Amino acid sequence: MCGIVGYVGEQPALDVVLEGLRRLEYRGYDSAGVAVLDPSGGGALTVVRRAGKLANLEAALAGRDISGTLGIGHTRWATHGAPTDRNAHPHVDCTGAIAIVHNGTIENFAELREGLEMRGHELTSDTDTEAVAHLIEERYAGDLPAAVRSVCAELDGSFVLVVTHREQPDLVVGARRNLPLVVGIGDGENFLASDVTAFIAHTREARALDQDQVVELRRSGVRVTDLDGAEVEGETFHVDWDTAAAEKAGYDYFMLKEIQEQPAAVSETIGGRIGADGRLRLDELSISDEDVRGFEKVFIVACGSSYHSGLVGKYAIERWCRLSVEVEMGSEFRYRDPVLDRHTLVIAVSQSGETADTLEAVRHARQQRAWVMAITNTVGSSIARESDAVFYTRGGPEIAVASTKAVMTQLSAVYLVGLYLAQVRGTRDSDEVRSHFHDLATIPALITEVLSRMDGTRKLARDLSGEERVLFLGRHIGYPMALEGALKLKELAYVSAEGMPAGEIKHGPIALIDKGTPVVVLATRHALQPKLVTNIQEIRARGARTIVVATDGDESVTPYADHLIRLPDTKSLLSPMLTLVPLQVFAAEFAMARGLDVDQPRNLAKSVTVE
Ligand code: M6R
Repeated sequence: MCGIVGYVGEQPALDVVLEGLRRLEYRGYDSAGVAVLDPSGGGALTVVRRAGKLANLEAALAGRDISGTLGIGHTRWATHGAPTDRNAHPHVDCTGAIAIVHNGTIENFAELREGLEMRGHELTSDTDTEAVAHLIEERYAGDLPAAVRSVCAELDGSFVLVVTHREQPDLVVGARRNLPLVVGIGDGENFLASDVTAFIAHTREARALDQDQVVELRRSGVRVTDLDGAEVEGETFHVDWDTAAAEKAGYDYFMLKEIQEQPAAVSETIGGRIGADGRLRLDELSISDEDVRGFEKVFIVACGSSYHSGLVGKYAIERWCRLSVEVEMGSEFRYRDPVLDRHTLVIAVSQSGETADTLEAVRHARQQRAWVMAITNTVGSSIARESDAVFYTRGGPEIAVASTKAVMTQLSAVYLVGLYLAQVRGTRDSDEVRSHFHDLATIPALITEVLSRMDGTRKLARDLSGEERVLFLGRHIGYPMALEGALKLKELAYVSAEGMPAGEIKHGPIALIDKGTPVVVLATRHALQPKLVTNIQEIRARGARTIVVATDGDESVTPYADHLIRLPDTKSLLSPMLTLVPLQVFAAEFAMARGLDVDQPRNLAKSVTVE
């Protein structure tokens, strides 16, 4: 939930850390802070922290001369304690020698804090983190990694900790449990961060830490141990995108850039999937054909927009594979004790690969011996590492909190996985699988076409931006996108928006419709579209202002549409990949017209690593 950076090297640490925090601000923007260690002149540890966005911290640092080549930084999404200056990280111990930043929640912090206060420590914030700084103070006897290991063994909950000590001018110590921490391996300098975007300007060689590991970061190298202090080996990976992918590139917001990147992101995700023999290949999954044939049931688990991608996956897998699919929110899945066994395939969909609810669903499924496949955008993420197989979407970094190109690539992924299962199980012959794949391969060009037509949608969004309630209706494969359109508008514009199956509205929700209520109806061509035309008439008769998304050349909806958004024709099962675009553009423009920051909507953070 929070963003963390650590650095030791030869460069001015403040610059490196602030640059990393700028790239991680999407993870939380309730407060920000840095600690920089200057070993010259006896060693000064300067800590500066401010409530609010990173800009507030930068303003507080302006004009100050803070030198030093070792530093840590934090951008916060508040859990324990209000987003104030005193709750901002880094936190320090009683002596001011130790500074610490933390992502996660320490569940036994009240008990730890009580013990510390009884032993005479003075805690000055409301956070769970500060207790850790004081515990390290108690355990420190010249060996910082040993003190951190000993404290970690006592903590319950989830954490990434990054710690520095005034007496250790060449050492930053990091530790992780349940949340991501990645090491950036440089030449004479090394980095720690919540994700690689923080350091790709300096190095693209990285190593993800595993559960309950502690890392010692020095200029000369990196050492990783378990909590007993035994050194552990690990694999490094190369980040195959560069800083340009994590820049706004002239757009006002990352979200606008990421919407435009969708054709390329889909091309990347589906590229190279057909082998020389003409068969679909998802080699990275490395599931045996025997396992695939043995699946009797599929669950898709995910949260938020990824859940909507999962709903689309249900239609594709059921249609092509004749396998029963249930789609469930990560936050609910394990609590109802679903029936799982070795013949159950659980597909976890997560852009970040770190969403706590989805991760816990993965763990639960594996405990029950189900076969777990991750669909994620993040190499080395917890969900990727803890699943039996991983399908990586190749969307590149998604920085805006509202998910756009990640959803688009997840849709590509669920179609590919559906086709692959059908191919191996023999429920579709290879000609049909190839033909569906070729339809999918036409999608990037069609998205480009849709993007070129968005002026009318933008104007409409501006015209409607004073509205406080918008409904989204769809049927069949259009229903998940109605949910997605509503979620985008809620999270970006703070408008009450609901996505509903159009056939359901007569069972209650139609009472919401009043004169002028804007209703977006997703009515592209598919089997239920004629019924949807009837639903449009029903709501229009009650005064709705209808915004109809329809296929080129389909005139059946024209008489009932106050506004028409036209999309090129495609196979109906793939239509969500086109419908999605005007919904994203509509929500972004609507929110911008209200003067809102569409990259960092209020109360949110990009990856939700708390339950
Ligand atoms: O990283 P994940 O895909 O697991 O994230 C899931 C949701 O938190 C995410 O899709 C969220 O709903 C987005 N902000 C929606 O735009």
